[in-house]
Amino acid sequence: MNTSTISRRRFAQLLGVGAAAAVARPALSLARSPSPAPVATTRVVRLSHNENPYGPSPKALKAITDGFEFACRYPDDHADLLVEAIATNDGVGTNQVLLGAGSGEILRVCAAAFTGAPANADAAAGTLVVADPTFEAIVGHAQRRGAEVVKIPLTSSFAHDLPAMSAAAKRGLVYVCNPNNPTASLTPKSDLRAFITSAPRETMILVDEAYHHYVDSPDYESVIPLIKDHPNLIVARTFSKIYGMAGMRCGYALAQPEAIERLRPHALNDGVNITALIAAEASLRDANQVATGRRLNSEARAVVLKEFAALGYQHIPSHGNFVMVDLKRPVVPLIQAMRQRNVQVGRLFPSLPNHMRVTIGKKGEMERFVSAFREVIKA
Ligand SMILES: Cc1ncc(COP(=O)(O)O)c(C=O)c1O
Repeated sequence: MNTSTISRRRFAQLLGVGAAAAVARPALSLARSPSPAPVATTRVVRLSHNENPYGPSPKALKAITDGFEFACRYPDDHADLLVEAIATNDGVGTNQVLLGAGSGEILRVCAAAFTGAPANADAAAGTLVVADPTFEAIVGHAQRRGAEVVKIPLTSSFAHDLPAMSAAAKRGLVYVCNPNNPTASLTPKSDLRAFITSAPRETMILVDEAYHHYVDSPDYESVIPLIKDHPNLIVARTFSKIYGMAGMRCGYALAQPEAIERLRPHALNDGVNITALIAAEASLRDANQVATGRRLNSEARAVVLKEFAALGYQHIPSHGNFVMVDLKRPVVPLIQAMRQRNVQVGRLFPSLPNHMRVTIGKKGEMERFVSAFREVIKA
């Protein structure tokens, strides 16, 4: 997630969350606001955090409701059930799965286990090597451990520069985000496979596949099948994106059992809540969630891409639920102008100062985006 200048509470108000409370006090609200603005036109369109606007699977929602009765229990039995479901789904053993409160926790745990200053007794002295730009959460985690962080610019085709990353990697951790956030670009599967196969064993490799389900390219593959031959490979996955559960916080790591045991001491025991576990397990049983999510995303994405082309703006080919468009001028004033029109887009990414990151929302939201975008680029 990126930081936003609008508080989450304010955002919830703009979305109309808490409307039930307003309904309970109609006289008061009417007295204070004789001519309220119509809700539909004042709502914020949030295209800033790469969320899935369609939400969890109906099966997950039902499982959550049915599962409330377990809220008084510690979540270990349900964690075991989810681990079994993930292991079956991804073709690994149950001892190769570590759950986290979102894949964000997995990134923190990897930084804790494999990066740190040489003086740090409880961590292997390790550099973190990342692309620039990429999803930066892990950078902060490594820096807080006193680790050196090396940033390697993406190539001209917005892929990870794996030879340069490999040269910079000493002991420690190389983070590869594929598809990459914020660019939604791919690192070709043959390059990534060659990098993983040739990396020295003391270099840990973390491949973040948060947007895996949205990719539809012959140039892409998950690296999960490589785990069995590579004790230094970790894959991070999340239920926040295609499974629409960003607010529930559930993600996981896959690796060989020894690597999982090096990560486990850094994770919070019982750190994923029981409703998230139940919802995630039910999501994996709903094949439609992935197929429908992919279809709706590509339909809504087509609306904006067509518009960018018509207006003469190039975009980085998108393999995710977001797209980076080149505005050919500084993005910051346009982010602000969009916000004034109640459309929130991604923050500034300093190495791409002329690009705007736009999350793909529902079709109607993209239409609102398009009409605000047309206004702001004319101004
Ligand atoms: C590439 C990437 N990895 C990890 C995350 C963290 O997601 P979560 O903690 O919700 O699983 C995000 C969030 O946007 C992301 O873009």
